[in-house]
Amino acid sequence: MPRKLAAGNWKMNGLAASLAEVETLAERFATPSCDVLICPPATLLSRMADLPRGAIEVGGQDCHANPSGAHTGDLSADMLADAGATHVITGHSERRADHGETDADVAAKTEAGWRAGLTAVVCLGETLAEREAGQTLGVVGRQLAGSVPDGATTAKCVIAYEPVWAIGTGLVPTLDQIGEVHSSIRSALVARFGETEGGGMRILYGGSVKPSNATEIFGVADVDGALVGGASLKADDFGGIISALEASVG
Ligand code: PGA
Repeated sequence: MPRKLAAGNWKMNGLAASLAEVETLAERFATPSCDVLICPPATLLSRMADLPRGAIEVGGQDCHANPSGAHTGDLSADMLADAGATHVITGHSERRADHGETDADVAAKTEAGWRAGLTAVVCLGETLAEREAGQTLGVVGRQLAGSVPDGATTAKCVIAYEPVWAIGTGLVPTLDQIGEVHSSIRSALVARFGETEGGGMRILYGGSVKPSNATEIFGVADVDGALVGGASLKADDFGGIISALEASVG
């Protein structure tokens, strides 16, 4: 079974001075009992990769589906790998909303990440309107079917369930709501990829995870870690979340 994963998504935040946060974390978690990943903005990727960062892995926040070409402003998965990334986030709801990314786009980016040897963290999640209309499991199931390509394995793929309405809002679903969606994602993964790969694939929860709510969220069945935005920017906060995940492993 892969280890649990605490993943930080810095989004469009962070300048060179922020790299000190990673060094602080690396000192505090020299040999963490879970995996730790930080996805900085692309401008910091290679500098972060070159830091003495111990077990902390570095990832991209997005990639283009093509390996190279005339795509001004875009980055290929090979470029992320070349800069030292081991992971790439695909299908984050902010990419889906701001850049009109469809499930097919997300699947193509995920495959591009795999071709470059990266593990993809594929994001899924319903809007508030969809939740209020009782469509959550249908929406997440459809996104999972369309965004996760055939051939997904526990090594190449991580799923992140992130309700859009919980991202950056301080709102968090109830533990029952999180458990319901994670269990439905698990069933779909097992049905599609089998007991070993689908059963072992990590399913992260994301959306307003903080040190103060991490322990209870990590106690929910089929929550294998977190994808953390705002609270990943400061070593103290992200460190609290990593500690909570370590404690949940026992
Ligand atoms: P948040 O973001 O932790 O700031 O809510 C989570 C995410 O978008 O990955």
